[in-house]
Amino acid sequence: MQCSNVLSLANLTKIGRVVLALAVVLSFSNSANAAGDAVAGKGSYAICATCHGPAGEGNVALNAPRLAGQEPWYIDRQLQLFRDGARGTAPGDTQGMQMRAMAMAVAQPDAVANLIAYVETLPVTPAPATVTGDAAAGKTAYAVCAACHGQQAEGNEALGGPRLAGLDDWYLVRQLDNFKNNRRGYHASDVYGMQMKPMASTLATPQSINDVVVYINSLQ
Ligand code: HEC
Ligand code: HEC
Repeated sequence: MQCSNVLSLANLTKIGRVVLALAVVLSFSNSANAAGDAVAGKGSYAICATCHGPAGEGNVALNAPRLAGQEPWYIDRQLQLFRDGARGTAPGDTQGMQMRAMAMAVAQPDAVANLIAYVETLPVTPAPATVTGDAAAGKTAYAVCAACHGQQAEGNEALGGPRLAGLDDWYLVRQLDNFKNNRRGYHASDVYGMQMKPMASTLATPQSINDVVVYINSLQ
């Protein structure tokens, strides 16, 4: 009795080790599939770097926002929106049109996953403040935004609201302007953009846009 208990315990330990080893292999391959191959992605990122910067830090002169720190699911969705013509096709959206051409060049799901995996390795540094406004007024205006973007603007994947903290303030201003003026959230397949569009309209003036962006910039 005692002996068989010891034996079965030894067997259980062995089985346990095999299960554990399998679990490690499986979780490794799962995460590799879901997250892509960052090493392969580094090669394709070279083209992106010409506008978004070698460390994904953004380039205001080229209108290209920082990508470092952005959530993988959100980057994936934006690349798809650009590819589908749900972003970057509205009249007057020069910047979106530039990016659309780039997104169309990377269509293979594997290539996209690899690129995103590489972007996730880029260092997250604070975005410099380039917009001026009233942070206290912005904080009041931000109360409605927090429902989908989080109290600290950290993002909310369940509601599809991207992280806003740490993004370039000039880029946030432009996107709010785009939503307000039908250059984003206009396409039937852009379900998330259409949710965001009426929210941008709660910011009545350019000053109120600046105020909320100054507050968001203070959250990083
Ligand atoms: C020719 C310059 C250029 C290149 C090259 C480029 N982009 Fe962009 N990208 C832009 C611009 C400009 C925007 C902003 C578009 C806007 O204002 O709506 C942008 C926006 C984006 C966004 C949306 C960010 C957000 O917060 O919504 C993502 C994601 C992105 N680019 C990824 C990439 C990737 C990945 C590559 C490489 C395959 C790449 N870009 C190459 C210019 C470029
Ligand atoms: C009902 C939920 C909801 C609320 C409330 C909301 N947003 Fe959004 N917001 C979204 C979603 C979803 C997206 C992503 C749209 C997409 O995928 O293109 C978004 C996108 C954005 C973007 C673009 C980010 C980027 O990287 O391009 C900005 C800027 C933004 N929101 C600011 C705000 C501000 C400021 C407020 C408050 C006035 C606000 N949002 C309120 C859901 C919301």
